[in-house]
Amino acid sequence: MPAMAGNRYTPIATLTPPARVPPNRRVFLHFVPFITFCYIFANLAKNACRVLHLALPLTQNFSFMKVAIVGATGMVGEVMLKVLAEREFPISELLPVASERSVGKRITYRGREYQVIGLEAAVAAKPDLAIFSAGGDTSLEWAPKFAAIGTTVVDNSSAWRMDPDKKLVVPEINAHVLTKKDKIIANPNCSTIQLVMVLAPLHQKYTMRRVVVSTYQSVSGTGVKAVRQLENEMAGVQGEMAYPYPINRNALPHCDVFLENGYTKEEMKLAREPQKILADHSFAITATAVRIPTSGGHSEAVNVQFEKDFDLEEVRSLLDNTPGVVLQDHPGSNTYPMPLHAHDKDEVFVGRIRRDESQPNTLNLWIVADNLRKGAATNAVQIAEYLNQQGLL
Ligand SMILES: NC(=O)c1ccc[n+]([C@@H]2O[C@H](COP(=O)([O-])OP(=O)(O)OC[C@H]3O[C@@H](n4cnc5c(N)ncnc54)[C@H](OP(=O)(O)O)[C@@H]3O)[C@@H](O)[C@H]2O)c1
Repeated sequence: MPAMAGNRYTPIATLTPPARVPPNRRVFLHFVPFITFCYIFANLAKNACRVLHLALPLTQNFSFMKVAIVGATGMVGEVMLKVLAEREFPISELLPVASERSVGKRITYRGREYQVIGLEAAVAAKPDLAIFSAGGDTSLEWAPKFAAIGTTVVDNSSAWRMDPDKKLVVPEINAHVLTKKDKIIANPNCSTIQLVMVLAPLHQKYTMRRVVVSTYQSVSGTGVKAVRQLENEMAGVQGEMAYPYPINRNALPHCDVFLENGYTKEEMKLAREPQKILADHSFAITATAVRIPTSGGHSEAVNVQFEKDFDLEEVRSLLDNTPGVVLQDHPGSNTYPMPLHAHDKDEVFVGRIRRDESQPNTLNLWIVADNLRKGAATNAVQIAEYLNQQGLL
């Protein structure tokens, strides 16, 4: 039928032919619905992950928080960041803090770079939690400033450990003493932590009377400067000294400063802190602390006299079943704890378990742990995890 003026129909022949699509674009157009579907699906998945991420704290009874790591550039601080990342500690914002010398330096945490800030800036940022590993003087001055603005401080220095108003905590032993009111919590000395981890179950079963401990402590226990001293000496390079004598091929019966009673501060920490952690002053401890040229962990030769007698197999089984303690006690196959094997591990290793044949009810043990992990960072993070899980922050 011919086309008419005003006709409502348009003859097919007069329709503009569809634009010719080049063959490669035609292939692409076939994929448009698939690409759109993928895009929508990816977005839905991303949003679902976000919701799950936010909901996780509700289901697991913990919340994400702003965390300051004071001493982030130090020996303990570095391991602290590593442990926090490994344990996926719920951090919404990380504040790496160090001395004015390090402000502006960059550190990496979980693949992201962060700039180191100073203590003033960290207080101004009002973190929920501050983990201090920056020496006693820094803790004495700054921990109260954080506590005053509501931040909970977990402190690795010796500043608050023996303060009767502050809790001294090894989570496996006495986390239950913590309350919401504790705003400055002390992490025990590294050599104390590994000692009490092993003594606590034995004390509960056989009741300790007296402990004699001799330590063989790693240079990493003194900090970055001491590790450099050992490295320099091993390489035959002159450098800054952390100790009054060479440490390579040496043993220094000198850990921390000497006190008026002839003991070092480290020895007195070992003699005093266990009673506070175990909430029992009925036993005595005496210590000799020695620095040796290892860098993987601290070792301790321990002699314990009990009130009750014990069975060696029962002692082994007790320690084997203690969370956080690993039994390595097969002298026949040369199996015993060593700093080389304890390095970078969270557990406390115990072996060379034998009866002291010179006196009744007395046991000899050899205890090894990584001083930077369970002796410092891991214990502090475990305290923070407990506080978070119990809603005490
Ligand atoms: N090493 C261990 O095995 C161990 C175990 C348990 C407890 N602790 C305790 O943990 C603390 C740190 O020990 P460490 O071995 O990690 O020492 P370190 O390697 O010498 O590190 C010290 C850290 O503290 C920072 N710092 C020093 N003065 C400061 C100040 N005025 N303000 C802010 N930050 C400051 C340093 O920052 P810069 O880099 O800017 O100087 C560095 O980040 C000490 O209190 C120690 O007793 C150590």
